[in-house]
Amino acid sequence: MKHRGIRILALGAVFLLSWTSEGRAGAFEDLMEDYKQQGGGPVFSSIAGEGFWRTIRGDAKDKCETSCTACHTTDLTRSGTHCHTGKPIEPMAPSVKPDRYADAEKVEKWFRRNCREVVGRECTPQEKGDVLSFLKQQ
Ligand code: HEC
Repeated sequence: MKHRGIRILALGAVFLLSWTSEGRAGAFEDLMEDYKQQGGGPVFSSIAGEGFWRTIRGDAKDKCETSCTACHTTDLTRSGTHCHTGKPIEPMAPSVKPDRYADAEKVEKWFRRNCREVVGRECTPQEKGDVLSFLKQQ
């Protein structure tokens, strides 16, 4: 009887582990699926995403609004610096920071904020899908 309890506990732990790791891997796929539902795709391009990421906007009123790289820098494996506050921002590359893009709500929240700041409007589903495919590969 004692062993049975342990076995059930172990099974529970395995279930929980696979459930959480699946949840993590799923956020990126879910987001890409959402962007398609919202009219983006069917193909998303990491090359277009990189272009979008690096574009310097000449008409920006403020140096912090010129580009995504104003805060995140051009080297995604390194920490960035918040252009207004000077606070460090952890690297955007999942190869360095594996929990990047693991929380769909977080991704959407920051897309909303940062796109308004840099592009002056919300990014389209196509732009978000392109940028996210680029970032996810880093
Ligand atoms: C004014 C500074 C600033 C600029 C400019 C900026 N970001 Fe960010 N971004 C942040 C901060 C701060 C965070 C949240 C901190 C963190 O995730 O480490 C963040 C987080 C993100 C995230 C969420 C990352 C995650 O782990 O889910 C995405 C996606 C993102 N930014 C995309 C962009 C894109 C695309 C642009 C250009 C359109 C951009 N950012 C421009 C400051 C900036």
